[in-house]
Amino acid sequence: MNITIRDERVEDIATIEALTKSAFLHAEHTSHTEHFIVNQLRKHHQLSISLVAEEEQTIVGHVAVSPVKISSGETGWYGLGPISVLPHKQGLGIGTMLMHATLARLKTLGAKGCVLLGDPNYYGRFGFQVVPDLTLPDVPKEYFQVISFVGSIPQGEVSYHEAFNATE
Ligand SMILES: CC(C)(COP(=O)(O)OP(=O)(O)OC[C@H]1O[C@@H](n2cnc3c(N)ncnc32)[C@H](O)[C@@H]1OP(=O)(O)O)[C@@H](O)C(=O)NCCC(=O)NCCS
Repeated sequence: MNITIRDERVEDIATIEALTKSAFLHAEHTSHTEHFIVNQLRKHHQLSISLVAEEEQTIVGHVAVSPVKISSGETGWYGLGPISVLPHKQGLGIGTMLMHATLARLKTLGAKGCVLLGDPNYYGRFGFQVVPDLTLPDVPKEYFQVISFVGSIPQGEVSYHEAFNATE
């Protein structure tokens, strides 16, 4: 398996949409709107990072990162997701490659840290942890996780861009 991680290009947009839709088709805890979210983030210039995993000119994975707001007013924090790998390519390490590339890119951008919503059994291995004082309203606490690149974690409520409410 020879995987390259690179930034998205304009000609990838339709493929990323189809990939995201198919990755989440049978996933748990999904609203099946993840492909709309990616499109709306792009439309609103909120895709701080949009990386694809490519295998022999076929896109097999994608990850989106966008800025988040924290009620304390702290800036420099981002939200990772949606992250998607084609169903028949899952479990082969592609998601892990996308995660490492994303964390490296966030550091390059000068990010203070990153949050995400997902299974702690998966994201804990990349350094994400649940903390009591940084929360996302209306979600189970154990799924909302954070990684800091600056040694401290802000307190408050996190809000994602309105694109996360997209339904079309
Ligand atoms: C989550 C996802 C991006 C991970 O990518 P991947 O290439 O399959 O993951 P990797 O091969 O790098 O890692 C495999 C490991 O992650 C675990 N894993 C994969 N998907 C998981 C998930 N949704 N929840 C928990 N663990 C998961 C596997 O059990 C495996 O664990 P192991 O190393 O202990 O055996 C991919 O499975 C996917 O697209 N899933 C559907 C969409 C989704 O749920 N996205 C995440 C929510 S934003």
